[in-house]
Amino acid sequence: MYNRQDAFYKKAKREGYRSRAAYKLIELNKKYEIYRNGHNVLDVGCAPGGWSQVALQMSKTRVVGVDLLETGDMEMERFTFILGDITTQETVDEVLAACSGYDAVISDAAPNTSGSKLLDHVNSIELVRKIFYFACSVLKPGGNFICKVFEGEDRDALVKEMKVHFDFCKHIRPEATRKGSFEMYIILKGFKGLPKNEQ
Ligand SMILES: C[S@@+](CC[C@H](N)C(=O)[O-])C[C@H]1O[C@@H](n2cnc3c(N)ncnc32)[C@H](O)[C@@H]1O
Repeated sequence: MYNRQDAFYKKAKREGYRSRAAYKLIELNKKYEIYRNGHNVLDVGCAPGGWSQVALQMSKTRVVGVDLLETGDMEMERFTFILGDITTQETVDEVLAACSGYDAVISDAAPNTSGSKLLDHVNSIELVRKIFYFACSVLKPGGNFICKVFEGEDRDALVKEMKVHFDFCKHIRPEATRKGSFEMYIILKGFKGLPKNEQ
């Protein structure tokens, strides 16, 4: 068992972040500049709101956050929250209506874990693939994408499939990741656009 109240959890409480996951985005954005000030950012799987909170610290950045769950109490002019499932057309339409083009799509979305590493991996790959192709339909050329995936044998094939559409690709496990967790993040920069037959 891991300690839920570990150092990052306590730090998040102390520093007013809505999740310990906030530190992962801080680290990843410092290293890879996935979004910049003034960017339009789509945060998929945003609840309880730590990543959105971090992105909104840049004074001109706008964030659209979407999640199956409420974030609650995150009213801010530059933040739009959409309650819904990103794999459904209804939610996709709402995300499209909220902004005409995104500079960055950041996704910490993950399926509920089942206790089976294989099943969790398969579900995660399926969810990430859907989010990825949706991201490709809303990203501006040159835009950036980051997503979380549960490690397993299909990860390499997914990365291979994704990276042909971007100039830069890296996969990384941030320091704030819990010990024993099998999650990692895929970072893609410089969206080239999808070929016509995949749009
Ligand atoms: C680890 S949490 C995200 C934490 C967030 N980055 C933060 O810092 O507060 C993963 C979230 O993904 C959401 N999620 C999973 N599948 C989703 C889907 N199909 N559509 C929208 N949100 C989804 C879950 O409801 C959950 O809130």
